[in-house]
Amino acid sequence: MTHFSTTPRHVAVIMDGNGRWAYRQHLPRVAGHRRGAEVVREMVQSCVDLGIAHLTLFAFSTENWRRPALEVRLLMNLFRLLLKREVRKLHENGVRLRIIGDRVPLERDIRQLMEEAEALTRNNTRLQLNLAVNYGGRWDITQAARAAVGAILANGQDPQTLSEQDIAKYLSLAEIPEPDLLIRTGGEERISNFLVWQLAYTEFYFTDTLWPDFDRASLEHALHSFAQRQRRFGRTGDQVLEGDCSVSD
Ligand code: FPP
Repeated sequence: MTHFSTTPRHVAVIMDGNGRWAYRQHLPRVAGHRRGAEVVREMVQSCVDLGIAHLTLFAFSTENWRRPALEVRLLMNLFRLLLKREVRKLHENGVRLRIIGDRVPLERDIRQLMEEAEALTRNNTRLQLNLAVNYGGRWDITQAARAAVGAILANGQDPQTLSEQDIAKYLSLAEIPEPDLLIRTGGEERISNFLVWQLAYTEFYFTDTLWPDFDRASLEHALHSFAQRQRRFGRTGDQVLEGDCSVSD
């Protein structure tokens, strides 16, 4: 497998196109999600091989509840099955699993499986796999702002002193670097309420490839594209070339 001069530390992915893939094969939509789950397995292995430290996948958004009830139920069944079947293998591979999003509306047994998986894998360091389930970027910012204001009031501070840092420390994934690269498959070019705050300086890579077709070669293509980009973080190109690369992200 190719190694890249600039490997991202954190890759985030919007896995779009499962439904269309299934439609093209004359299969039910859930068959696309099942194939999508296999691609997730391959993607995790590729990230381990490449030394990518963090992978964040958008599995179910706060807006996905609007899908037909049957599809929502089948997706939840798939998450349940994967949590039961895959976690041991993830653990053996040194993968730490974290779930981000609002768990309250999820079924009790799924929440329980999530907690068990996180507890089992919490000391693993090879790859951190973050699964966004019932996640929305605006939900994340709102819950972080609520926590930050709560802390300020509890300390008797003036809410006018609230800073970006105060909010950032309560966001999901505050403890890991922000994504270097966002990949979105399936042809759409938007972030669909994914990591709205955390993607402020992220490089975006859009591809028409449908998620069930996103193989190693597709990932390598995205990584090549990333390696060629110059990340300026608000500085000029000359400053970056002179090595003034101290970044605050
Ligand atoms: C988007 O395709 C995909 C989803 C909403 C679900 C993602 C779920 C998986 C890849 C399977 C399970 C994975 C994990 C990590 C547990 P779409 O249905 O919107 O496709 P379309 O745009 O072609 O209709």
